[in-house]
Amino acid sequence: MTDKKVYPVQPDIAKNALVTAEQYEHMYRQSVENPNEFWGEHGKRIDWIKPFTKVKNSTYDYNNLSIKWFEDGVLNASANCLDRHLADRGDQTAIIFEGDDPSVSRNVTYRELHEEVCKFANVLKEQGVKKGDVVTIYMPMIVETAVAMLACARIGAIHSVVFGGFSPEAVAARIVNGKSRFVVTADEGLRGGRAIPLKKNVDAALKHESEANVDCVIVVKRTGNDQVPWTEGRDVCYEDLMAHASAECDPEPMNAEDPLFMLYTSGSTGAPKGVLHTTGGYMVYASMTHQYVFDYHDGDVYWCTADFGWVTGHSYILYGPLANGAITLLFEGVPNYPDSSRMGQVVDKHKVNILYTAPTAIRALMAEGASCMDGTTRDSLRVLGSVGEPINPEAWEWYHRVIGNSKCPIVDTWWQTETGGILIAPLPGAVDLKPGSATRPFFGVQPALVDNEGNLLEGATEGNLVILDSWPGQMRTIFGDHERFIQTYFSTYKGMYFTGDGARRDEDGDYWITGRVDDVLNVSGHRLGTAEVESALVAHDKVAEAAVVGYPHEIKGQGIYVYVTLIQGVEPSDELKKELVQWVRKEIGPIASPDVIQWAPGLPKTRSGKIMRRILRKIAANEHDQLGDTSTLADPSVVDELIGSRASN
Ligand code: PRX
Repeated sequence: MTDKKVYPVQPDIAKNALVTAEQYEHMYRQSVENPNEFWGEHGKRIDWIKPFTKVKNSTYDYNNLSIKWFEDGVLNASANCLDRHLADRGDQTAIIFEGDDPSVSRNVTYRELHEEVCKFANVLKEQGVKKGDVVTIYMPMIVETAVAMLACARIGAIHSVVFGGFSPEAVAARIVNGKSRFVVTADEGLRGGRAIPLKKNVDAALKHESEANVDCVIVVKRTGNDQVPWTEGRDVCYEDLMAHASAECDPEPMNAEDPLFMLYTSGSTGAPKGVLHTTGGYMVYASMTHQYVFDYHDGDVYWCTADFGWVTGHSYILYGPLANGAITLLFEGVPNYPDSSRMGQVVDKHKVNILYTAPTAIRALMAEGASCMDGTTRDSLRVLGSVGEPINPEAWEWYHRVIGNSKCPIVDTWWQTETGGILIAPLPGAVDLKPGSATRPFFGVQPALVDNEGNLLEGATEGNLVILDSWPGQMRTIFGDHERFIQTYFSTYKGMYFTGDGARRDEDGDYWITGRVDDVLNVSGHRLGTAEVESALVAHDKVAEAAVVGYPHEIKGQGIYVYVTLIQGVEPSDELKKELVQWVRKEIGPIASPDVIQWAPGLPKTRSGKIMRRILRKIAANEHDQLGDTSTLADPSVVDELIGSRASN
């Protein structure tokens, strides 16, 4: 059994680690037995304009739900990432920018970053952005994106970053939902040598969505393509505005519970929801987890390969590392451009000590074979991290052996957009590693497993993963829909936060995340609602009905398997399949591209008309012999027909 394989804490790592095994046990106990004292102490790790006197004020009581941390404290997130480092490390590198083109890189010091952020904060003010306004950021992975996020934080505006791979339709929906009047974008992005038409997409989004009410689009020049469309009176040029902006901008005093940012993520039903994070608890939690989980020491070069469009980019490229005065590497490109040695090349070039990436990237490299690391030594690496989806033990071993030269602990970090920071992960100097297990909770986090009725399960077992009490980085609401927040996370199991994930706990008390137990897909670490893909499909005029399920995929973890019922009279064809794939890409973005489309004359439904996804998942996974109970099907022949036609698909 892979469970039995244990990599004990390495003595060389433990020797210099911030937290040892004994310290972990002691601190963890203190954090859950006396959270006010624990977080009262660790809350001081960041700078407060007015110190808090209250620490934790939260209840998961369903009728009385309330989550507040450090509620009377006043601070500014950008001041914590910038100003407070100027005296000691103003000339130290804050961001190493590594361009898509391997010959392009530059270092930005804390002082330089501070100056740019102050200038852009003034630009935002000049354009009419006020405290509490929502600014949509639709950008490539460049320094200006970090500047834009921090500038929003500096003046108390709420940033809403939209992943650069999303389609105009998806951008439009997020702008409208966030009532955002300001957009920051770039002429084009550059990834893998290809230009991404970001500004064109923004124009299409605003044209497409009549409800969008955008006053101002600030456009950064990335490629300098002069063919980019321009709307006078609305579009303004970043470089022009920055040229005359003042570099003096006092940080806005923000209450600990004032919003810092929102970020859209997919749920099991409906449209993506705007997860809202506030300032004080988030900053404490992001910075503390960054330091302890990666065992970050001053001067370490840290590289997280995520995108700013996801929460990992927020907490572990930007806020956590910069609050800690870290050197954070910002990579514009993709791991296989110009070739699959790029990751190793970047590690060697910048002497990266800590590398944080996703299982899907590791599996893609693994498929290339170990030769993709030829010509690189990766000697500088000390700690490796994994995030976004369960890491299969084979990929874990490969990551450990090939990328990490069998000398770096791997921290498998489990968390979510909603949690703001890492909740379960082995601290490298404290916890033994098991390939495939996220192991132990971080300080203050109380995971538990429940059965479908919400009964707490004890000992070594498997169940639904819940968290029993609040931690500082937890989301506070869904933007504009607090009721949905309560319903989504606190109604399934009363008195507990429901994660949507399943997990197993072994004899040692270590957690193994098994994946989503709801209708959320995880494709290459990207979270997608089956309902979102289905509603994109049924918007096509030839589609009568669609059902979407995930199936095991070697590289992506999960692939997207689609069952489509065409409207009467429409003939199925390979061309139509291609058309539908293109359609979904246009509606959502390339990450939602269906991998398999199966024509379905009918879908398996209960007598009350509910689609039985469990059966569709089994057919997609080619596990026809494990369909389970089919007695509640309205028309069992539908299943035989789908199994029969699957073979010919
Ligand atoms: O299913 C879990 C999976 O990703 C989901 C959260 O996705 P998202 O909000 O996009 O955040 C991703 C980055 C934090 C979780 O519900 N997930 C994330 N990390 C892991 C994981 N599954 C297993 N192991 C992990 N380390």
